[in-house]
Amino acid sequence: MIRRQGRRSKVAVLMVAAALVLAACGARGAGADGGGGAEGENFTIKFSHVVTPATPKGQAAQRFKEVVEERSGGRITVEIYPNSELYGDKDELQALQSNSVQMLAPASAKFTTVAPALQVLDLPFLFDSVEDIPEVVSPDSAAGKAIYENEALAASNIKVMGLWDNGLKQLSSNTEMRTPDSLAGLSFRIQPSDVLRTQFEKWGASSTPLAFAEVYNALQQGVVNGQENPYSNIESQNMHTVQSHITESNHGYIGYVLVINNQFFETLPADLQEVVQTSADEASTYNRDVAAKLNAEARATIEEAGTTTILDLTPEERQAFKDAVVPSVWEQYADVVGPDLIADLLAEQNSQ
Ligand code: LMR
Repeated sequence: MIRRQGRRSKVAVLMVAAALVLAACGARGAGADGGGGAEGENFTIKFSHVVTPATPKGQAAQRFKEVVEERSGGRITVEIYPNSELYGDKDELQALQSNSVQMLAPASAKFTTVAPALQVLDLPFLFDSVEDIPEVVSPDSAAGKAIYENEALAASNIKVMGLWDNGLKQLSSNTEMRTPDSLAGLSFRIQPSDVLRTQFEKWGASSTPLAFAEVYNALQQGVVNGQENPYSNIESQNMHTVQSHITESNHGYIGYVLVINNQFFETLPADLQEVVQTSADEASTYNRDVAAKLNAEARATIEEAGTTTILDLTPEERQAFKDAVVPSVWEQYADVVGPDLIADLLAEQNSQ
């Protein structure tokens, strides 16, 4: 009898203690500081992407992880899953929205179904050289605003944290491609973007949207004849080993939209929200610093491999590719991208 009473009082003490702990947590949570989450609580950010760790995106993700973990004093851990090992192109946005991962940096074209206006970054010949990129995609530019303030992304619980670069795309296939006519009848793998489909149509080629992880096999097995990507993606996926020709066309851009699950972000205490944003900014600067260098190194590696002839176009030859798609493709997608934005971009092009 005495022993049973002792056990009951121990249980009561434990219940009171548990209630006190819960009350204390409640007081610290709910964000008197504007954020959510309890002080002292630890968080994990799963960051999934589809390229290798050696690429401009892979390296920027690594830098982001290092900076966040250091600045948060270990309260945030970033787990990076590269190379489509956790999620690939077809399911990563869904994984982000369901909070199975918290961050991604997909290329603009991967947002086509969620936020079609992001195809602005897929417009052919948006940039003539990599030096033009930072200005055109800065948060204050017309194109930058269209991305940072995109309502479709916000409505999908997706918050933009930055814009990362890979760089400019080159054409690869098993045929010399010196003029747009030389693409006639070839089929190219594209990212899932209508703008990209139309670009290849204008050059007389057909296109098939495929996930990035499928590109090497599709080229090797002849499912498609060619593809378009910056050198770093071509080299790191060994695409050059199954493509005899690359044309350095610099005809399009691979820009990444660094995104976070907004609900997750809101649950972070305000100081950690700040850490995540400033670390994203630092990773963006780092990404810009390394992207051009990594692409130049990848081109050199491809040249050394001796598998692929790289053709540098003359300005006139590049212009012929451009004339076939600008302004026609830009104008065709004015309603998708935004008529004012297209008018601004065309005015900028014409003033050059
Ligand atoms: C592609 O699918 O070709 C690229 O978007 C891959 C990437 O993330 O750079």
